[in-house]
Amino acid sequence: NRKPADTLVDFGITGDLARKMTLRALYRLERRGLLDCRIIGVAAQDWTLAQLIEHAKTSIADSGEKVDETVFERFAKRLSYISGDVTDDALYARLAEELGPDARAVHYLQMPPSLFGPIVEKLGAHDMLTGARVAVEKPFGHDLDSARDLNTRLRAVLAEEQLLRLDHFLGKAPVIEVEYLRFANLALAELWDRHSVSAIQITMAENFGVEDRGAFYDPVGALRDVVQNHLLQVLALVTMEPPVGAGADDLRDKTGELLKSVSAADPKHYVRGQYAGYLDVPGVRKDSDTETYAALRLEIDNWRWAGVPIFLRAGKAMAERVTEVRLHLRRSPRLAFLPKLQQAEQNQIVLRIDPNPGLRLALTAKDNDGGWVPLTLDSSFAQELGEPLEPYERLLHGALVGDAQLFAREDSVEESWRIVQPLIDAAPPVHSYERGSWGPTAEADKLVRGHAKWHKPWTP
Ligand code: BG6
Repeated sequence: NRKPADTLVDFGITGDLARKMTLRALYRLERRGLLDCRIIGVAAQDWTLAQLIEHAKTSIADSGEKVDETVFERFAKRLSYISGDVTDDALYARLAEELGPDARAVHYLQMPPSLFGPIVEKLGAHDMLTGARVAVEKPFGHDLDSARDLNTRLRAVLAEEQLLRLDHFLGKAPVIEVEYLRFANLALAELWDRHSVSAIQITMAENFGVEDRGAFYDPVGALRDVVQNHLLQVLALVTMEPPVGAGADDLRDKTGELLKSVSAADPKHYVRGQYAGYLDVPGVRKDSDTETYAALRLEIDNWRWAGVPIFLRAGKAMAERVTEVRLHLRRSPRLAFLPKLQQAEQNQIVLRIDPNPGLRLALTAKDNDGGWVPLTLDSSFAQELGEPLEPYERLLHGALVGDAQLFAREDSVEESWRIVQPLIDAAPPVHSYERGSWGPTAEADKLVRGHAKWHKPWTP
């Protein structure tokens, strides 16, 4: 199933995600010479092809991308459009005709998850799945049971290698970089375990609120929106064992195993917050206790990480927009000739994911008075590694060429729901926090006390 596709069937091409992200990503792939397929848009809007093309152009421009006429013309030539109801057989008959018998298609569902099952079943019934791949957007399930049900329903008509579950964090260059950095550099690899690391923290802070997404966000909350998927996928890549081969499943075997070894989260080590003003967001219930901030502690119960606490936190309306992974290293033993060493900061390794990705090594040096000073070694990926593909470019390209490694496999999706399920079942009360703060800091500090403190994130 690794043959490049010759057709992208884009369900939901007139929707929000397409307008904001995916049309732009496809256009950028075109500009780079990486797009090599026709695109059949499918959606409910009763539009002509000309209207769709016009809409695509405006969307791409509105997303901040400079539209080059020649590139756009090339892109527009790939497009065709079928409008109709995705639960109606007539639509699939038209699609099958448009596709032809020999097409190698990727069906990309940027649609509400409740439609994944019905669409895939219709594609199967109309014989459009042989040799095809299906890419589905987030969220994949609402809890462990619904994720299992969805997997069962989709897997009834699709083999696992045909099913690509999108998590755009898996398309972020610094997230992909993790596996290389960790294993290509003994300077890091040799430190990467419980003997040297005393705690791991992952922070995903956003300096904007829920804004116009109240109706989507309120039934979801921070834990489901970004922790269960994005942050646990990042954690798996940061802590997995080295893959034993180069295939997509070699990597995903290791991330799956890692998640399997994470103990189910304990609601006693879970802090929930809600920013002041959230209840006034349109679409949010007036008495909502949905969390817009989540901080939690996890344990990885395996040989490498046993006893090392893992802290994850994610929040909206926080002081900064930043996503980073921070490893705290153990202290050196006490030394008579370095009397003040025990007061120094622990060494840290920081991987900055967003924005301005980079790597920092925070060390300690001696100053002229026998005290200590922090010494930092910083590297910015943009400077050193050049401009990467954007996440959606990488993922859509990966779906088209059949690079399954970029997508979440069934086991890792179900394991990550298993990990957070106790927090859903017994959610503690939410604490209010101010917009532009670091969340409910008293409670979050208590969560990490004795292990590591929350640092102000590093900005390269
Ligand atoms: C999405 C969430 O999956 O990820 C959003 O639904 C969140 O709530 C977004 O803002 C963050 O993505 P990024 O790439 O901007 O960090």
